[in-house]
Amino acid sequence: MRVFAIGSYKGGVGKTTTTVNLAYDLSVKGYRVLVIDTDPQANTTYMYARVNDNTYTLADLFAGSKAERCIYRTKYKNLDLIKGSSRMEEATGDAEVLKDALQTVKERYDYVLIDCHPSMQLPTIAAMIAADELLIPFEPDGYGRNGLIILDDYIRQIREQYNPRLRYHIFISKFAGRASQLRLFQNLIEKYDYPIMDKCIRYREAVNTAIENRKPLLRHRRFDAVTRDYLELTDALLELEKLEEV
Ligand SMILES: Nc1ncnc2c1ncn2[C@@H]1O[C@H](COP(=O)(O)OP(=O)(O)OP(=O)(O)O)[C@@H](O)[C@H]1O
Ligand SMILES: [Mg+2]
Repeated sequence: MRVFAIGSYKGGVGKTTTTVNLAYDLSVKGYRVLVIDTDPQANTTYMYARVNDNTYTLADLFAGSKAERCIYRTKYKNLDLIKGSSRMEEATGDAEVLKDALQTVKERYDYVLIDCHPSMQLPTIAAMIAADELLIPFEPDGYGRNGLIILDDYIRQIREQYNPRLRYHIFISKFAGRASQLRLFQNLIEKYDYPIMDKCIRYREAVNTAIENRKPLLRHRRFDAVTRDYLELTDALLELEKLEEV
């Protein structure tokens, strides 16, 4: 079992979109996938299941329920879910809970994907502690250099405070090919020593219509460029893993 957290210090960069599509693409390849929605907005949950606080959610897991209880099958083969909940806003307790809970189901899954909230509250910290790898979507936008400096701080904080062993990968998301975006992307590669994936996710309207239809891209627009981008990102991550195991 390999655990990916999908996180960023910034909101709206594509964390949830990445979680939903990476998880689905891995499940279609035959891997057994568990998705965990730590965000109280529960957007990932909405894509796979009914958002309903009367069922078991991640909040119950934090309150002491067993992982088995909180896991739901989705309508997709090989793809299970621990639902997000607005109650996660008030979650308290031990940040190791998620890591310990995952140990109890580690034989059942090949990949666990944890969608994070853009903050450093308990659920995000718990995700950083449970994860082997952090995937950071980076949207090259107008704030340019500030974004890069904050990115540095974000990674340092996670490593120093929560998980020194955490590997991370950055990839460009919502890439529209604007000159300013290209300059920033270039800057990121040339001046910084980040592990940047050479796959980037394009900005495409299909992402928005897929959300409207509550479908992974592969089910919604099979041949769209962004569907291909996510498939290639999935392959690149699988390749990286092979390299890391050597
Ligand atoms: N590649 C893309 N092309 C076009 N729109 C995108 C793309 N990726 C994400 N979006 C849009 O950007 C918005 C934010 O995406 P998403 O919810 O995945 O980000 P997030 O990082 O999870 O946000 P939050 O921080 O609020 O959890 C959504 O409206 C989504 O449709
Ligand atoms: Mg999100």
